Amino acid sequence: MKLGKWSAGILLGFALAGLALAQGGKLEIFSWWTTGGEAAGLFKLFELYKQKHPGVEIINAAVAGGAGSNAKAVLKTRMLGGDPPDSFQVHMGHELIDTWVTTGFMEPLDQLYKEYGWEKVFPKGVLALLKWNGHYWSVPANIHRANVLWYNKAIFEKYGLKPPKTFDEFFAIAEKLKKDGIIPLALGDNGIWASTHLFETVLIGTLGPEGYKGLWTGQTDWRGPGVKKALETFARMLDYVNPDHAARSWDQANDLIIQGKAAMYIHGDWVNADYLAKKFSGYGWAPAPGNYGVYDALSDTFGLPKKAPHRQEAIWWLELVGSKEGQEAFNPLKGSICARTDCDPKLFNPYLQWAMQQWKTDTIVPSLAHGAAAKESWLAAINDTMSLFVTNKNVAQAQNMLAQACVDAGVCTR
Ligand code: GAL
Repeated sequence: MKLGKWSAGILLGFALAGLALAQGGKLEIFSWWTTGGEAAGLFKLFELYKQKHPGVEIINAAVAGGAGSNAKAVLKTRMLGGDPPDSFQVHMGHELIDTWVTTGFMEPLDQLYKEYGWEKVFPKGVLALLKWNGHYWSVPANIHRANVLWYNKAIFEKYGLKPPKTFDEFFAIAEKLKKDGIIPLALGDNGIWASTHLFETVLIGTLGPEGYKGLWTGQTDWRGPGVKKALETFARMLDYVNPDHAARSWDQANDLIIQGKAAMYIHGDWVNADYLAKKFSGYGWAPAPGNYGVYDALSDTFGLPKKAPHRQEAIWWLELVGSKEGQEAFNPLKGSICARTDCDPKLFNPYLQWAMQQWKTDTIVPSLAHGAAAKESWLAAINDTMSLFVTNKNVAQAQNMLAQACVDAGVCTR
């Protein structure tokens, strides 16, 4: 049979469309990366993915709200309703294992770890937190540091200040600045996690790394003098924060530093990405008071839900997230260091180069506010305690609630 010119054209059209479809597909990525620096990192990964898999349509299912304060609830509804995204952001440690792995929602990723030799490129401590029951359950994109003191350089220079190493030094500086009408410490806890985050650095600074780690294993007494002291110090710190803290998000709190209204901000290093996105370079950094030599760590990872609608596309995503190319492109924009140990430091700004060094030498402790130290229900109970505490500053009540939360988590006996 002889085809006419038009029919041949139509057939060719169908064939090409079929080819595009074969290469096509979709990829839905769920995260809470919506602010400047967060989105910049995410979009960079999307860009690389599209170069490798041009036919795949990427659906960005990000839900705004720092630390996943809104996203986690949306994710839960979707997962329980049998409607998982193809891959989702989840913190290394308890958040990953207790919430999604032991409950049977994820696929093991051992094959990827084997194929790409990831056991050789991720640090042992990181691998241990991604493993459960002999299998790997997610791919780490980065390592963030939670216990950083960011400061406005111009203010520090004007007053001849050095970053405070101790709480005493912090309060001396704070008092001086407050008298002069400058907000000593920025805070944005419209998501209460930001107060938990600040408190976690005070716990580390008060108890030391071993004492802090002991809180999560039952070794350190939540009813003891250390936690009491930490609560008292935290209450005192709250006297120096911006009065509108409950109305601000973490990045809006950072704006106070950028605008020169506040001098210091104790927060994670996604702040560094926020500065980059907002083109602000007048900042300095140091470990949070009392936190010298300690790296309060967390990691954003991505996993493969069992019922991922586009499984192959999700596997390609995970390959990219774990790759050297992916990590070297993503992390300089995200304000984090690579989870991999073979990234080129020259690609990173001075803060991140500093963080890379510290990561090698500091004592590493798991972040509470970002899913590494405690399971979600325990963290939720601590968040509830913080909600009350930032308004009433009742040390005895908060300590009691914290101690009870540890008992409820099944870790403490009293
Ligand atoms: C953390 C997350 C970071 C950063 C931050 C603020 O929980 O690990 O990647 O995005 O929240 O939203």
